[in-house]
Amino acid sequence: MTDRKIWRDGEFIAWQDATVHVLAQSLQRGSLAFDYISVHETRRGTAIFRLRDHVERLATTCRIVGLPLAYAVDELIEGCAETVRRNPGAKSIKISALMPSIEAELIPENPHVAVFIAAYDSDRDLAAPNTERRRRRREAVSLKIEREKSGRREDVIPPHAKVAANYTAAMTAKWRARDEGFDDIVLLDEHGNVTEGPTANLFMVDSDGVLATPPASKVLLGITRDSVIALAPAIGRSCVERDIAVEELSTASEVLLSGTSAGVWPVVRIDGRAVGKGCTGPVTTLFRETYQAVVRGGLPQYDHWLHYV
Ligand SMILES: Cc1ncc(COP(=O)(O)O)c(C=O)c1O
Repeated sequence: MTDRKIWRDGEFIAWQDATVHVLAQSLQRGSLAFDYISVHETRRGTAIFRLRDHVERLATTCRIVGLPLAYAVDELIEGCAETVRRNPGAKSIKISALMPSIEAELIPENPHVAVFIAAYDSDRDLAAPNTERRRRRREAVSLKIEREKSGRREDVIPPHAKVAANYTAAMTAKWRARDEGFDDIVLLDEHGNVTEGPTANLFMVDSDGVLATPPASKVLLGITRDSVIALAPAIGRSCVERDIAVEELSTASEVLLSGTSAGVWPVVRIDGRAVGKGCTGPVTTLFRETYQAVVRGGLPQYDHWLHYV
């Protein structure tokens, strides 16, 4: 059991005390809103990457789902910073907003939304038996195109909500893909266009050498996705947000994924066929290195993305 301290509604409690009842409303109904943020050691000290953007996304999720969040964004930003200060060596933050009330009705009488902020190092503090395998998967992903389960849909819950209920279909599909030997999946929209992975956005370098990513209306608005789009001109590329037909993936010279967990990483096979040369391509490498430099404070022009604690 780790010695980390977790912020719960403004107070710090022991890691093992940050529990909810099995009958808690959000556990039973899938209404847990959350966000995942990265923490980095830089020359100027410990910094949280794009903290305000992440907290604002959590507030957006709560608004979409209807969770009455009782904290202002600035209060949660300070809560995250203080949690990192209290937990030296933390590499990430998970902030969760949930209804702990134990009630039978779909809409609880007690609408209190509890907020928990945990800052930790997943290798040290979480159960992670397959750390090495997880790392290898991030080096060269083999992707399956998921044709049965669709991703998040506007008429169910919009893709912009980072809420537990939005992950069940993707988890089911990814589990099946794993059994078939793939590392990950890409979900399609109702027209058969590419959307995103279960926990990552997708980019491709199209046949004209242009970086393209599915439109904002179809995907979770990834903070890393936004960073890649913003970084593109600085590294001599342009990025367009447009519908990507699934067939286009087979002619792409590179396909890459983006997400807080690992920044930018390459897809080298899709449905068993090599993408481009079947190894990490030059555009992916450039984005990966630039992104890593930014989060570590190595590029001063992006220092405003770092929240020093
Ligand atoms: C569905 C989905 N898409 C994309 C992402 C990547 O978002 P970010 O770059 O903010 O981590 C995530 C992150 O977990 C996600 O859950």
